[in-house]
Amino acid sequence: MLDVRDLHVGTSRLRLVSDVSFSLSAGERVGLIGESGSGKSLTASAVMGLLPEGVRAEGSVRLAGVDHDLVGASEKALSRVRGDRVAMVFQEPMTALNPVMRVGDQVAEAMLLHRTVPDRRAARARAVELLDLVRLPDPGRAARAYPHQLSGGQRQRVVLAMALSNDPSVLLCDEPTTALDVTVQAQVLDLVLRGVERLGSALLFITHDLAVVATVCRRVMVMYGGRIVETGTVDEVFTRPRHPYTRGLLDSSDLERSDERGRLRTIAGAVPAAGRFPDGCVFRTRCPRAQDDCAELPPWYGDRARGHACRHPVEEPR
Ligand SMILES: Nc1ncnc2c1ncn2[C@@H]1O[C@H](COP(=O)(O)OP(=O)(O)O)[C@@H](O)[C@H]1O
Ligand SMILES: [Mg+2]
Repeated sequence: MLDVRDLHVGTSRLRLVSDVSFSLSAGERVGLIGESGSGKSLTASAVMGLLPEGVRAEGSVRLAGVDHDLVGASEKALSRVRGDRVAMVFQEPMTALNPVMRVGDQVAEAMLLHRTVPDRRAARARAVELLDLVRLPDPGRAARAYPHQLSGGQRQRVVLAMALSNDPSVLLCDEPTTALDVTVQAQVLDLVLRGVERLGSALLFITHDLAVVATVCRRVMVMYGGRIVETGTVDEVFTRPRHPYTRGLLDSSDLERSDERGRLRTIAGAVPAAGRFPDGCVFRTRCPRAQDDCAELPPWYGDRARGHACRHPVEEPR
């Protein structure tokens, strides 16, 4: 459904994402994890062709059924694909909503734009159905509401209804529940899963919540310093992490592994500033296992058959 190959993202001065390659097949659910500043959002934005001003992508992003590369495609070509074959849900629902337009009209508009409904009347009716599918109470009435009249969780449901409205083959979710109350998070997550299951869409789920990855995804990619440092099934990666960064990330998020005083173990050192990651292994300046040869990338780096990018991988299971 989606094939990303040798993706590089950066400004004229900074390399922000390097050498990212992965693919998603129909119905597959893949997690993307890593500390803040790792390049997760830029990766998803590059796939959507929605990079910030001054940030450019190189490499290749191919979608099933689209005969051109999305990298380097015109804005016109991208807008035909975006919200149609590939859709995205962001952390903050208001980034996707127009504050001065009724939410039902916004969902309808998304379908009219891609002509997946015959006319406005059908679009309005379908919008109410979609709002019902994402469990908005009294969907007919909710359709007439403006975004500010809804709660954060309700707004994110509207965004999800919009994202699913044209039956996308790929759904990208960038921390879709982070801004919501804990009680609402599980409900929205459940709706995302029902949505992709109903449509058979592939899902890329970005989150810092490893427990969510464990329940939602079968495969996971770990990102640090703009690179994917480890990938594999959730089972493999969570029980036998090979890259010291993955190991640190798992240990630091694991309550059972807090010390006697109940402090969480954290990864030593701070994430370098954008574009300030070292050459070679991006993690070597914080890595407890680093040796001299880590200044060079492993020769097999980028070989996706290998699950990790480390010359001195962790051997012991957790
Ligand atoms: N427009 C931009 N110009 C320069 N640096 C940017 C820009 N957008 C993001 N960055 C930097 O790129 C890095 C990766 O960002 P991001 O993809 O948002 O990380 P994540 O989503 O993993 O937290 C961060 O260090 C961020 O500051
Ligand atoms: Mg982000």
